[in-house]
Amino acid sequence: MSEYEKVLLKNVGKPNSRQLATYVEGGGYSGAKRALEQTPDDVIDVVKRANLRGRGGAGFPAGVKWSFLPKDREVTYLCVNADESEPPTFSNRVLMEEDPHQLLEGILIAGYATQATVAYLYMRAEFTEQYHIMQVALDEAYNAGYFGKNIQGSGYNLECYIHRGAGAYVCGEETGLIESLEGKRGWPRIKPPFPAIQGAFGKPTVVNNVETLANLPHIINRGADWFLGIGPEGSSGPKLFCISGAVKKPGCYEGAMDFSVRELIESDRFGGGMRNGLKVKAVMPGGISMGILTADELDMKMDFSDPAKYGLLGLGTASAIVIDDRTDIRKVLRNVARFFAHESCGQCTQCREGTSWMYKMTNRVERGLGRLQDIELLGEIPAKMGMMPGLSICGLSDGAAFAIRTIVEKFRSELEDYVRSENDDAVRIALEIAN
Ligand SMILES: Cc1cc2nc3c(=O)[nH]c(=O)nc-3n(C[C@H](O)[C@H](O)[C@H](O)COP(=O)(O)O)c2cc1C
Ligand code: SF4
Repeated sequence: MSEYEKVLLKNVGKPNSRQLATYVEGGGYSGAKRALEQTPDDVIDVVKRANLRGRGGAGFPAGVKWSFLPKDREVTYLCVNADESEPPTFSNRVLMEEDPHQLLEGILIAGYATQATVAYLYMRAEFTEQYHIMQVALDEAYNAGYFGKNIQGSGYNLECYIHRGAGAYVCGEETGLIESLEGKRGWPRIKPPFPAIQGAFGKPTVVNNVETLANLPHIINRGADWFLGIGPEGSSGPKLFCISGAVKKPGCYEGAMDFSVRELIESDRFGGGMRNGLKVKAVMPGGISMGILTADELDMKMDFSDPAKYGLLGLGTASAIVIDDRTDIRKVLRNVARFFAHESCGQCTQCREGTSWMYKMTNRVERGLGRLQDIELLGEIPAKMGMMPGLSICGLSDGAAFAIRTIVEKFRSELEDYVRSENDDAVRIALEIAN
């Protein structure tokens, strides 16, 4: 793990960190001013060279996404994804609560690079306080000429509105978000067309995560080489990590993507070790939808490429839940299944039916009424749902599949032992009743 100087969280803890004056005093909005002096293509070019990969979960390079916008477009929208519903992720919340102008500066830079005329900051319904913080900061930024007409005398115009969601995990999926923004039910759209071609209100649209955009002022000020110099190749730049569960210091931390899950748990810079002498049983390192690691797999690096080597879907939101050795894995399995069954929007048959079957089976197993066939099916159903086998509209079902499948595969013998011992009990009780 390298030495690391905070970038994204550097203003956290500063008095009045939310205020424009504090932000500007620390060099804030200088990145946006520099960007406005360049051509939009130059800004896209530096973001492409930095290989800024999206922080919302999929890790798609931001500059490449922006260059998918049609050249002859008349209108472009920028949607800022602040839905942040992946359990147990709260890094976007910290960025908005502690340093709202950093995000607004990022929005301005992305807006200018893509020549957006309107930016929508889509916030999950539960972000009540954060909504007020962002609105106060946005009003300040408008008054200081960072939004509106002829921004800082550049001739560029950008309006920014905050849109509050109604509270659904699937509204974090970019096309679910767009539908919800348009006032419809938050149902993901079939792709193609992708949002870059036909997004919000049928117009070319870019959707980016809060943390992705918060990186932009620093890339513009410090350059692509500085960004590439942080962390390993393919996983460069400042990154936020959340950790929760059985550790001494749950929280949101910043670093390069150059350390392992074990270090995230043990290091004093991050989790500070396990609480009350507990031992690690399992870790979900990327939010629940990326899958699970056993205690023997903690060498996995928290970067974009290592998770696949451990059978996970990806780095996801880089937010780890640490599960201790007292925890019954059946309860973890059931909770995960319940979440996805509840959040599936129901458009795709295999997602709607698959998530609710899995919930029913995990419920049965948790209540001591499971059968060995349930464990078998819980291993099989996930392989038949999701975008990966080409059967669903959005990635929610892949998340459900990876989460359930990895728990069942990696903790199979424990689950089977539970089922066998309960079946034995059931036979014993039946014999006692019969006799
Ligand atoms: C079910 C589901 C939920 C998602 N939730 C979020 C979310 O809360 N925030 C987010 O930024 N991306 C979320 N995503 C990913 C978005 O679809 C999209 O890839 C992302 O906002 C793009 O931003 P980025 O390229 O800057 O990462 C979700 C995806 C799926 C399939
Ligand atoms: S995969 Fe699931 S959540 Fe996504 S659109 Fe289909 S039914 Fe809805």
